Amino acid sequence: MMTKPAGLSFPVSNNVSRMQPSSTLAAMQAADALRAAGANVVDFGAGEPDFDTPDNIKRAAVEAMRAGQTKYTPTAGTRQLQQAIIDLYAREFGADYGRSQVMATSGGKQAIFNAVVSLINPGDEVLMGKPYWVTFPEIVVFAGGVPVFIETEAAGFLLNADQIEQAITPRTRLIILNSPSNPSGRVIPPAEFKRIMELLSERGIYVISDECYLRYVYPPAEVFSAANLPMELRSRLCIAGSFSKTYAMTGWRMGYALAPRQWTQAMLKIQSHSTSNPNSIAQRAAVEAFNGPQESVGAMLAEYTVRRAWLLEALKEVPGFTCNEPEGAFYAFPNVSGCLKGALRTSGEFAQRLLDEEQTVVTDGAGFGCEGYLRMSYATSMVQLQEGVKRIKRFAEKLE
Ligand SMILES: Cc1ncc(COP(=O)(O)O)c(C=O)c1O
Repeated sequence: MMTKPAGLSFPVSNNVSRMQPSSTLAAMQAADALRAAGANVVDFGAGEPDFDTPDNIKRAAVEAMRAGQTKYTPTAGTRQLQQAIIDLYAREFGADYGRSQVMATSGGKQAIFNAVVSLINPGDEVLMGKPYWVTFPEIVVFAGGVPVFIETEAAGFLLNADQIEQAITPRTRLIILNSPSNPSGRVIPPAEFKRIMELLSERGIYVISDECYLRYVYPPAEVFSAANLPMELRSRLCIAGSFSKTYAMTGWRMGYALAPRQWTQAMLKIQSHSTSNPNSIAQRAAVEAFNGPQESVGAMLAEYTVRRAWLLEALKEVPGFTCNEPEGAFYAFPNVSGCLKGALRTSGEFAQRLLDEEQTVVTDGAGFGCEGYLRMSYATSMVQLQEGVKRIKRFAEKLE
């Protein structure tokens, strides 16, 4: 009689076994599974624009293919793309980066990964405000570092220099800033950003400024890049940027890093032995994104502005919900602790029951370090927003 071979358990490396899978991707997969089963799903989970990539950018990619730009490029990206990045930061933020300080990456995520892994040794502490983007602590843990979370709830999730100062220890090596923040939408005002950078510079702490949502800011909050700070405050700064959200290019996987020369060299070492270079065709598209017309960015921002206003008003009508006004990005981050009673004890259970009973996807705040909160992306159509809030309200009223 044949016996089944015993299943081999895979000996996952220590670095990887310390990591948690992405909770935001898990929410996307749950929505996909329901859709595949024919359900009418409303999806507040997706962290990506519902808009298509602008046509001028797509055309540039087609031209690149026709012109044979289908080969490996330098690890740091083509000269043309490096120059487009340098020019944009000079034009818009008065910064004077040189080619040795600029590299193109496969998405902002790779820029952050390169920056953390090239700096952090086992036991190094890395600060980040709570709530944090889910990927930050996982990259730190992969590198052997220790994520240290800064509580900001009492300050309405706005990170400031005083909170950071209290969290610094002799082992603090790096801080990851993210303004506008995913998931809270908070934007650090320029004057406070400068105070933070002065403190970190005084203490010799390295900084990654994740500026992936740079353009999506709602007045009176202001668009602000750390590139705009004086040179002496940028000597330990790596800016991680992305084309994904600004130009609705999530699938193209294009981002970049701006950092001091030696940090960039270390990051290039990692990239040269991992992905070699970002996709050559997407690099040409990214050049067009930065150098071409910017009307599409304004049009998307105008649309997010309308949706944000509508959603914030609508959430006021949901029993048990309270919500800060997000100043940037495209997420609302309501506190739902008013709904957590009886058998329903956590925001994760809330999200799961909402999915099961109303086929509506939201992301549990616990994945961002904030139990009792939900992240709702408004990068989806008004029709979907209206239907989704109707379902959430019906669900929350049932819990009353
Ligand atoms: C805060 C934050 N940083 C970085 C990224 C990375 O984006 P990408 O790798 O698509 O450029 C994301 C994407 O969701 C994000 O939300």
